[in-house]
Amino acid sequence: MIKDLIRKNRAWSAAKTEIDPQFFKRLASQQSPEYLWIGCSDSRVPANEIVGLDPGELFVHRNVANLAPPQDANYLSVLQYAVEVLKVRHIMVVGHYGCGGISAAVDGQRHGLIDHWLHPIRETYDENRTDLDALAEGTERLNRLCELNVIRQVRNVASDVFVQDAWNRDQVLSVHGWVYSLNNGLVTDLGVSVSNLVDYQALVGRNHP
Ligand code: CO
Repeated sequence: MIKDLIRKNRAWSAAKTEIDPQFFKRLASQQSPEYLWIGCSDSRVPANEIVGLDPGELFVHRNVANLAPPQDANYLSVLQYAVEVLKVRHIMVVGHYGCGGISAAVDGQRHGLIDHWLHPIRETYDENRTDLDALAEGTERLNRLCELNVIRQVRNVASDVFVQDAWNRDQVLSVHGWVYSLNNGLVTDLGVSVSNLVDYQALVGRNHP
């Protein structure tokens, strides 16, 4: 029932205020998050909750299959604001195993508009076809594609001019690739963090992806 949500909202607001009476007053005046989360829209991957952050501490962009497409005005607007105005120190691209977007991208079926949105995932598949086809069909292969997609999106973020310009003016900024597991609620760092132009050159110099 939609009314239940309003009731739960009242209870949440009251609980927050009880712990910290200035909580909302302080937040209303400004936000200064240190992190930008680029994650999947999936309802099972709630950004703030997973990393234990309060409102005001995490700037969030979510879309199907956590993509960072270099021509997407929505993502680019979020990225520019996060980097140039909020001056976040970390950007994490967060995929999740069992992502419906990843499987829909490569299941050979027609789903509608989303097939176009998911096109970059099919490109990532094609670029890594030898490695992926060597894995067992199903979960194992899709999990690896999920990781490769995250790494590819880290490259997109790190190669964006907003991020490159930030590094050129010595702004402190790192881009990370994470995968979240629905089975145990744990995040895995894929070890592809990029914190400067030297890291970036190392990442793009890798063969895959
Ligand atoms: Co997903």
